[in-house]
Amino acid sequence: MDLYGKDFLCTQEWEVEELMAVLDLAAKMKRDRFSPRWSRVLENKTFFMFFYNPSVRTRQSFECAATELGGHAQFLEPGAMRLKTEKTAGETIEDATQVMSRYASGLGIRILEDKIGAYGEGDDLLRQYARWASIPIISMAHDKYHPCQGLADIMGWAEWFGQGPGHTLDMGVLEGKKLLMTWGHGALARSWCSVQEGLLIASRFGMHITLACPEGYDLDPQVIEWTKTNCGAHGTEFQIVHDPCSGYEGAHVVYSRHWMSPRAYVDGEFQKQKEVEMALKYPQWICDEEKMALTTDAIFTHPMPVDRGHEVTDAVASGPRSVIYNVAENRLHVQKALMALTMGNL
Ligand code: CP
Repeated sequence: MDLYGKDFLCTQEWEVEELMAVLDLAAKMKRDRFSPRWSRVLENKTFFMFFYNPSVRTRQSFECAATELGGHAQFLEPGAMRLKTEKTAGETIEDATQVMSRYASGLGIRILEDKIGAYGEGDDLLRQYARWASIPIISMAHDKYHPCQGLADIMGWAEWFGQGPGHTLDMGVLEGKKLLMTWGHGALARSWCSVQEGLLIASRFGMHITLACPEGYDLDPQVIEWTKTNCGAHGTEFQIVHDPCSGYEGAHVVYSRHWMSPRAYVDGEFQKQKEVEMALKYPQWICDEEKMALTTDAIFTHPMPVDRGHEVTDAVASGPRSVIYNVAENRLHVQKALMALTMGNL
């Protein structure tokens, strides 16, 4: 299998075997983190990173990943690059991307809800870069998908139910387990990228899925359709419920996260204040110990940053069955493996 030069915009666009190649290498890299086997994989190579939005984990884990592979990750502010936009004159994506492809070995882009005027514009932008680039384009979280987060999530869950970190990954341990993906109230009006990626990747690896949210918080119909198809292929169940408690029963993994409503864009403007005011009307939508007691001794997962006191209580987020830091650590390992396979001399 040759993944060299391949874009990574959504896990659904990769074969399971390709995702497994990244996960298997990530597990090896995690086990033997500073081995000389990896320290020259990106030697003399640069990974460009465009951040339209802020980040803790993504920026730092990609920078550490490039360092540990012997390369360099370069932080770029798109706003300072004189690029043409709908509202301003400037250089076209076609020209800028073809030039950047002559310098770097890969390009990562993050563009989230408040930097676009309608859902899907971020995905369109990444695909324009992918059209003109001769180097891989990696989503570092955009309005639709967060594929690196999806890989880190599934790796963390498989480690927990398997032999633990430091061992060969057995993804079979997730087959037949139930993921509860539940909406949490909150003050952050978050995009759909992490939760949509979570639904897609969990259903690719044979998990039953319950999606829980208040009426009016539907996700992208295409993602729901893919999730149903993935579950159908495994003979697993996919259901949507609209109350804050019923999905917990029988869950093995609970993922509680706020997401914006489909009404978040009006006339090309992101309605952050309205979204926050609306979401705060649902205080019962919080993951707490009482609800976790309804599960099959579930783990708690979240891509972070966590909105403590809204999406989840401190007792659950910092409790003994929380995998939030394990998953955050895995961002480093999966991204090292991804860079090695798509850009490296492995
Ligand atoms: N989970 C995640 O992408 O975190 P950051 O926004 O801090 O990068």
